[in-house]
Amino acid sequence: MQSKWTAPANIALIKYWGKQAVQIPANPSLSMTLSRARTVTEVKVGNGKPGSWSYTYAGQPKPGFEPKLVAFFDRIRDLLPLISKHELQINSENNFPHSSGISSSASFHASLALCLMDLNQQLGYSDLNETAFRQQSSAIARLGSGSAARSVYGSWVVWGQSELSGSNNQYAIPFPDTVHPIFDRYRDAVLIVSSEAKPLSSTAGHALMDTNPFAPTRYEQARNHLKQLIQVMTTGDITRFIDIVEQEAMSLHGLIMNSRGGTILMKPHTLELISRIRRYRSETGSSLCFTLDAGPNVHLLYPDQEKEPIRSFIRSECLQFCENEKWLDDYIGNGAERIN
Ligand code: DP6
Repeated sequence: MQSKWTAPANIALIKYWGKQAVQIPANPSLSMTLSRARTVTEVKVGNGKPGSWSYTYAGQPKPGFEPKLVAFFDRIRDLLPLISKHELQINSENNFPHSSGISSSASFHASLALCLMDLNQQLGYSDLNETAFRQQSSAIARLGSGSAARSVYGSWVVWGQSELSGSNNQYAIPFPDTVHPIFDRYRDAVLIVSSEAKPLSSTAGHALMDTNPFAPTRYEQARNHLKQLIQVMTTGDITRFIDIVEQEAMSLHGLIMNSRGGTILMKPHTLELISRIRRYRSETGSSLCFTLDAGPNVHLLYPDQEKEPIRSFIRSECLQFCENEKWLDDYIGNGAERIN
């Protein structure tokens, strides 16, 4: 018996940064699911010792990865009988380069959660309809990595309690309102400033918020930003969209810098790219804006209809600030899928 799923990466516009036990976000977040950057995970039920499991990446053992998986399995053991009753063999592989500077944590945990939920169901330990199956898979993914809760769904996704109907802290939901057509075909070009491993893990980063004096203000800001972005998503007001998205990126990095024990994740080239993006926008009236993850790489967000001029801008003005001129050309996608 086996199950194989592919799940995409996602990029947050309203950032999840700060949490309570167990994996409950301090504020709601909103993301765009990508299309190309994906993880494929396969889980096989073996005949070995019940409760044991093994993990390989592209067929090769990855001992460095095991402590995080041990913690994940401890959290979900009571939720999925499959885990204590069978031996599981897990293999995963990312289709984006290992050293691309893109975190695979969300796409990995989402695809793994879907495989485990699927096998749990195949073995008769649960009998959920498609909606409940996705919701529980998102909740399980969250226990591996918070942002993974969002990679279960496609397009625009919300995770965390907010005024949006159905939103909650346990699992993510597809953005419930109709979005303006400009947001139907959005793109994300990831400019790889550095592919080095992050000096600050997300888990350590979230923990810095526990003692950050600006934390309460930040959580209020995120809620206000989401409230405004909900409106913008329906009206298509790009000027406000840009303003909110860029403020979110700057707030995230501001918090990373001003936390006790914090650090600087942006590089000089990150700043150079940001100023070039802003200059390009003011000179051309483009809808291009940027966001940042907890790292130095710059995500360029823009509507599909501006693809050609923005590609020229990337080639002529941005690639010289990327590591080996590397960038990923991605776009909005449909979310996790089963592979037969
Ligand atoms: C900056 O989901 O990686 O990307 O729950 O500890 O695994 P853990 O954290 P993680 O944090 C993501 C932080 C972020 C913003 C976001 O994706 O919302």
